[in-house]
Amino acid sequence: MTRLFALLLFSLVSLPAYAQLPVPSTWVNQRGSVLSIQTLDASTGTFTGTYVNNATGFSCRGQPYATAGNVTANKINFYVNWTSPTAPTCRTITIWTGRVAGNNIPTRWKLYYVGADWNFHKMIGRDFFTMR
Ligand code: BTN
Repeated sequence: MTRLFALLLFSLVSLPAYAQLPVPSTWVNQRGSVLSIQTLDASTGTFTGTYVNNATGFSCRGQPYATAGNVTANKINFYVNWTSPTAPTCRTITIWTGRVAGNNIPTRWKLYYVGADWNFHKMIGRDFFTMR
């Protein structure tokens, strides 16, 4: 029994940083936006992919933008710079932080933009991603 417990503990502790994030995988949030995970560095948990924004009330919709982030255990962070040579440019950046919970990734986000006053401003919100 003790050996079994030790084995179980070892297997949990030795789970790699990225164990919770399948690659490739596709995630859709409640706004219809699509996060695609395409690469993952097994040694660091750093991943890359694309993000297609389909959210009503925002710009830069319907086109893939590069995304990058990191997953460590169940903690996940990723960002999109909404500036691209091949798609409309919004000159904004969004950063999501959340956790991978099975087929779901609940997140909070911050979107930074430069206002008419040339100062940085911030919008905040939540996105709930589900694996497609
Ligand atoms: C912009 O309008 O400046 C760029 C697009 C921002 C889209 C935001 S990011 C947070 C929220 N979640 C989405 O899927 N889309 C919006």
